[in-house]
Amino acid sequence: MGSGIDEREIERAADVLRAGGLVAFPTETVYGLGCDASSEHAVERLFRVKGRPSTHPVIVHLPDASQLDGWAHDVSDAARALAAACWPGPLTLVVRRAPNVSTAVTGGRDTVGLRVPDQPVARALLTAFGSGVAAPSANRFGRTSPTTAQHVRDDLGDDVDVVLDGGPSTIGIESTVVDCSGDAPAILRLGAVARDRIEQIVGARVAVRTDAAGEAPGTLPAHYAPRASVVVVTRSDVSARAAALLAAGETVAMLAPDPVPPRLPGGVFVLDPPDGADEYARVLYARMRDADRHGADVLLVVPPDDDVGVAAAVRDRLQRAAAAGVTTEAAR
Ligand code: TXA
Ligand code: MG
Repeated sequence: MGSGIDEREIERAADVLRAGGLVAFPTETVYGLGCDASSEHAVERLFRVKGRPSTHPVIVHLPDASQLDGWAHDVSDAARALAAACWPGPLTLVVRRAPNVSTAVTGGRDTVGLRVPDQPVARALLTAFGSGVAAPSANRFGRTSPTTAQHVRDDLGDDVDVVLDGGPSTIGIESTVVDCSGDAPAILRLGAVARDRIEQIVGARVAVRTDAAGEAPGTLPAHYAPRASVVVVTRSDVSARAAALLAAGETVAMLAPDPVPPRLPGGVFVLDPPDGADEYARVLYARMRDADRHGADVLLVVPPDDDVGVAAAVRDRLQRAAAAGVTTEAAR
């Protein structure tokens, strides 16, 4: 095994999983809160700790692609091609579940989400455990996903038995979810594996159905929102919007890609600007947490400059976070 991995710690964590416990672990996307996917009891505890409705499916993480057929049946050619090309990596495949897969992890559905993560600590844990680990993002329901071990501890405290620390997640936003359970594959959640790439691999146009109600529970707007209201603005609008909010007595934070927009009024809390779309994805959730820590009422956000690949996924999360703020306002 490569350096930097404490094999005894991994073995202990795998034992905790075998005993029905909860282990938070790093992945390249975000940190996951894992349990033995074949133990209904463990999955029930996982849902309780997350505060998540039991109808929401969770992703089953596998040590390698060779286990696909143990969890799925009727696997389409498209799903096989995607698994071969993208695993390990930030791609979740929704496929028909094998009969032995508990409906506790599928939220009662006949399909299951499967992923082989590409992160050394995650792979070591999954290999040591030897089977599927059910893991949603390791945050409480409705909060932004954690991208460091400290975020997990802040969110879950003593409710998690072990937190494995693998440093900050290198991608920073959740995996691309592709539904391969029907006739034509469809993207249910945007992520680092771009639509173009998926289309190239399956050799056909692929629909994006990220707004289909009920299709991908867990993609609700509020899942990606900080406490502060998120307002998406253009680079040229940000100064005027900030000035108006400050005049109304709001505490204002701003996130924009490097370079920071000029002529910002004093009093705006300027969050450390990401340089490029990859860095934007990597730091997005940590910056949202920074805004909350500084007590911001409003977080003004200038999206990444382009709109393909991971930049499109960042824009998607920002739009959802902004929509969640609107919903909250309306409900007050
Ligand atoms: O990057 C990730 O995917 C992270 C890391 C920890 O792997 N996990 C994650 O899990 O984001 P969670 O539970 O927060 O999101 C799971 C997503 C949701 O959008 C859910 O609706 C979708 O996957 N999903 C899982 N199983 C599904 C199924 N059978 N049918 C439709 N959507 C499914
Ligand atoms: Mg989540």
